[in-house]
Amino acid sequence: MSKPSSPKSPSRPRSRPGSKQDIRPKIQIIDPVQNRDFKSLNIVIDMPLIEKLAKDYENLVEDFPLAMGQAASKRDRETAEDPMYKEPNFIYSEVSFETVAIAIQKIKKIYGKPMTGTSGFHGLLQHRGGIFYDLGCGTGKAVIAASLIHDFDTCYGIEWLGSLALIAGDLESSYNSRKKVVSKTIADREYDTHCTMVFGNMLDFGNSKKWDNADVVFCNTCTFTNEYMNTLADLAGTMKKGSFFITISKKLPSDVFRIVDYQMYPISFGEATVYIHQKLYHNNESDSSDDEG
Ligand SMILES: C[S@@+](CC[C@H](N)C(=O)[O-])C[C@H]1O[C@@H](n2cnc3c(N)ncnc32)[C@H](O)[C@@H]1O
Repeated sequence: MSKPSSPKSPSRPRSRPGSKQDIRPKIQIIDPVQNRDFKSLNIVIDMPLIEKLAKDYENLVEDFPLAMGQAASKRDRETAEDPMYKEPNFIYSEVSFETVAIAIQKIKKIYGKPMTGTSGFHGLLQHRGGIFYDLGCGTGKAVIAASLIHDFDTCYGIEWLGSLALIAGDLESSYNSRKKVVSKTIADREYDTHCTMVFGNMLDFGNSKKWDNADVVFCNTCTFTNEYMNTLADLAGTMKKGSFFITISKKLPSDVFRIVDYQMYPISFGEATVYIHQKLYHNNESDSSDDEG
């Protein structure tokens, strides 16, 4: 397989003084550094719902333990001929259901609200619908977690190690056949989120599934190299204004995203900081608007 390509950086947004944005109302962008209030954050998060959904999640993923993903990843990395697969980018770890659920709830209940940050007049994730991606989805469990916490149209997982992608495909089939049996929440809901696991290179828009139509991207970047993070940030620059990008341990090195939230959460090997970024501009837009969408 070929090495992930390094796409060109998206062009830097240029200022357009006197443009339409100048006369629009100025909307507050929540500054995580200056306006952080853990107490009110924790009041907003619906922990009883998250705990209830966590049980449904455990039922849905019970045949896909962490050890299965770790073993498949190790096998693929050890047998691969291309030295690229020996790099830390392919080391396996998993986030908990709660980590994904809380991050998405924060978007639904705080940062995605209408007229907040760059979420625009209608906001993001305020009703059913939207597109979610887990980039480097491993066995696909975070994709299932996302589908439980919000009625997305589709939740995608993209994975480039063959054995992991195969397992993710099994989880997708299991979710589709068992979800309404094991989860009353899913059985009762009016809308059926579709989960799709894709085998491909998340850093190669030319040959793999593009994820620039995302409303929310999640990427467990714990072990990613700086080079990987830069390529990821360049591609994320093509996402739409107001969309969210969640990373673990590392910030997205991009000046077209702003961190709206960060907090420590458990992952499979301990604790890590979860960063929630929001895209500030359309690709060709001024950086003078701050903002509405
Ligand atoms: C730390 S694991 C995260 C697994 C899962 N997303 C989670 O958080 O529970 C990172 C995953 O990214 C995958 N990966 C690394 N580079 C990739 C690439 N270029 N395209 C797709 N997947 C990739 C690895 O094989 C690994 O499964």
